[in-house]
Amino acid sequence: MSVHILGIESSCDETSAAVLIDGQIISNNTVNQDVHAKYGGVVPELASRAHMANIVPVVHDALHTAGLLPANLDAVAVTQGPGLLGALMVGMSYAKGFAMSLGIPLLTVHHMHAHVLAHFIDKPVPRFPFLCLTVSGGHTQIVIVKDYLDMQVLGETIDDAAGEAYDKTAKMFGIPYPGGPLIDRFAQQGNENAYHFPEPRVPGYDFSFSGLKTSILYFLQKMTATDQDFVSKNKHDLCASVQKTINDILIKKLKLAARATGISEIAIAGGVSANSGLRKKLSEEGEKNGWNTYIPKFAYCTDNAAMIAVSGYYKYLKNDFATLNAKPLARMPE
Ligand code: KG4
Ligand code: ZN
Repeated sequence: MSVHILGIESSCDETSAAVLIDGQIISNNTVNQDVHAKYGGVVPELASRAHMANIVPVVHDALHTAGLLPANLDAVAVTQGPGLLGALMVGMSYAKGFAMSLGIPLLTVHHMHAHVLAHFIDKPVPRFPFLCLTVSGGHTQIVIVKDYLDMQVLGETIDDAAGEAYDKTAKMFGIPYPGGPLIDRFAQQGNENAYHFPEPRVPGYDFSFSGLKTSILYFLQKMTATDQDFVSKNKHDLCASVQKTINDILIKKLKLAARATGISEIAIAGGVSANSGLRKKLSEEGEKNGWNTYIPKFAYCTDNAAMIAVSGYYKYLKNDFATLNAKPLARMPE
């Protein structure tokens, strides 16, 4: 019998719905929220309101594109956390109402696990166990993925996430939110060796990005003291140099983890895995070190409901259903 799953994602500033039939994504409909751009970051209250306005048409369009009616669904999968509480509440309340009215099960999904499982949307898929560098706006982790629902965090950031480092640096450069994609675009015309920023000394597989942010701030203060237009004149080189520093920090720890675990199936996931410099560097390191590398399609790097639907599918196969009193969790244990 076919399994039809509706996936819903609303943990931050993307409202997304996807339909999956027997493990295959049939539709994935994501609406971004432009309302945050002028504030330089996501405003939680505005995110909740936008999800409220978007969720019904987003789900409707996902079902319509898939050629399904609600009555055709077998389960609803939704992001439970981590994320913005008010934003999660919109998706979860909607998903619960949907599941309850249809008399079908609810599947609750861990957002960071879903980023990892985005690798099972399309082929080729990584073989277990694999290492995944999961880099987003809120998280930076190296995870050993032993099975679809069995993951162990080896290391994570002790302060800012990699995406946050991109977004906060962009703000200092006068680049609007979300800064990561624009830094990536400007970096392509810059010299990545133009400026040198120190890398943090953090033991093991953990990361730190707050020192980098401070060193960029001091550097900009020094340079703009004598030339007010320093940033605009050197934007491309600045972006390329910052991007190189962040990617070097990420790849160094990934290499360390690969060496220590002996695992050579290596993946990247999350919004920052859309970064062209990181994608290129991972491929190069893969060739040098004999790794099989896995890089998600752009549509499955940043937040999307396809990854929620696919994660829900693996839970469905294990009868791992949620009860209707499940709560959204701003912080969610692994
Ligand atoms: O996974 P995601 O969509 O949301 C969270 O779960 O946080 O990640 C969003 C983050 C933002 O910080 C954004 O600036 C960053 O991913 N990002 C990028 C790129 N595209 C998105 N960072 C660097 N280069 C990119 N091309
Ligand atoms: Zn995410």
